[in-house]
Amino acid sequence: MVYTIVFMRHGESEWNLSNRFTGWVDCKLSEKGVQEAIEGGKLIKEHGYEFDLCYTSLLKRAITTANYVLEVCDQLWIPQFRSWKLNERMYGALEGLNKRECVEKHGEKQVMEWRRSYGTPPPAMAEDSELNHAFERKYANIDGIVPMTECLKDCVERVVPFWNTEIVPALKANKRIFIAAHGNSLRALVKHLDNISEKDIVNLNIPTGIPLVYNLGEDLLPIPVEDKKYSPLTGTYLGNENEIKAKIEGVANQASKK
Ligand code: 3PG
Repeated sequence: MVYTIVFMRHGESEWNLSNRFTGWVDCKLSEKGVQEAIEGGKLIKEHGYEFDLCYTSLLKRAITTANYVLEVCDQLWIPQFRSWKLNERMYGALEGLNKRECVEKHGEKQVMEWRRSYGTPPPAMAEDSELNHAFERKYANIDGIVPMTECLKDCVERVVPFWNTEIVPALKANKRIFIAAHGNSLRALVKHLDNISEKDIVNLNIPTGIPLVYNLGEDLLPIPVEDKKYSPLTGTYLGNENEIKAKIEGVANQASKK
């Protein structure tokens, strides 16, 4: 038995467009982001993927993306479930700041450490920040405390239990699943699935709006593919390889001086 699951990072958001750290700030898709979601849906349709369930974070950029994708492939009727555990990594005091300006202030090395290291969280958000998410109604029933910052390790510690308790039983019940989530919650998930080391995860960037397909075996581990195009991922992105590579590079370079 083989299980197939499709992941997708939301389309470009308004704050991706203005190159700001976003985290749990609930901003909308940009016009380009809407187009990316629609194109992602077309690719899913072309490849004939059908789903029984959809999972998203609590953030509108992922929810809206899922809706466009499912609309385009005529599967908007399937049940959708939402969890904060699929949210983007909470970006602490960096939320709202321009990524390049941060590099000018703190240097490229420090910003890369905050963005991509496994275990170094950005500085925590101030309690009195107007962006403090602790008082948002959508997090009123969160099991735990609303984080004031998160590193990728913190994301792994919420995403992997969610995978094990929600997604795995659904897959085993032969549900075909689509997950619309975020750059770092998906990095956490594929780190787990592909057993990517803390060292190698630093180089992994997930592009916006591109469906990423994983085939899993009976043991729920990815079935190895001969040509790992998107090293170190076993999953395959749908779409034009050069465009995908350029998008991945674009994400990597959001906080470079160039
Ligand atoms: C954000 O929250 O700013 C982005 O969506 C992800 O940012 P990153 O690629 O800088 O981690």
